[in-house]
Amino acid sequence: MPFSSQIIIFACDYISLKILDMRYVLLVVFSSLLLIYCAGPVEERSTSVGSDGWLRGVTDEKFEIVAGQFGGFARSMMDVHHRYVEMYWAGEDENWQYAEYQLDEMRKSIEDGFERRPARAASGQHFMDVVIPEMANAIAEEDKQIFDEAFELMTLQCNSCHAMEQVAFIQIHKPEVRTGAVMRR
Ligand code: HEC
Repeated sequence: MPFSSQIIIFACDYISLKILDMRYVLLVVFSSLLLIYCAGPVEERSTSVGSDGWLRGVTDEKFEIVAGQFGGFARSMMDVHHRYVEMYWAGEDENWQYAEYQLDEMRKSIEDGFERRPARAASGQHFMDVVIPEMANAIAEEDKQIFDEAFELMTLQCNSCHAMEQVAFIQIHKPEVRTGAVMRR
């Protein structure tokens, strides 16, 4: 056999081997893809955690349960009410640091409430942007009369938001009876 024919045969063998190789590679890739496709997304398993496994379900279900436990805007308002009353007596005691502390906590409570119930935020915008800063300025004056005036204005604004949010029956008035344990003697 002439040398050139030998080269041609060798080349043909080589090419067909390569084609076979390619086919093999394609087959492996294709069947792997098919396997991945058929397996589909892995279903999350429902589990129970917490004391006696009270928190049940898949992750989203657990978040729903925890979110429910945080409560709505009323939960924040109960906290705001506490801050409001404490701030009042702090002012009457001329305990300005405590008054400032309570105002700051009140602001954070309302912000947390808006985070959970964003639909309430529009009615509370004036309270956050104007009323709270004005109260902060009054506290900084360290003057009981200025404090009392600002407190009266704040009270009106609590009620104004209640009216806007269709809970006008929740009427806020300056506290008359002291029940808290924090006082300056
Ligand atoms: C964003 C407007 C807004 C502002 C500002 C606001 N409130 Fe409220 N408040 C509400 C709404 C709305 C409710 C009813 C909550 C609900 O329906 O989930 C409420 C409920 C309450 C409750 C009843 C809570 C309960 O369930 O026992 C009290 C007390 C209260 N607010 C006090 C105050 C005080 C004090 C201030 C001012 C320092 C104030 N609120 C400012 C909107 C507001």
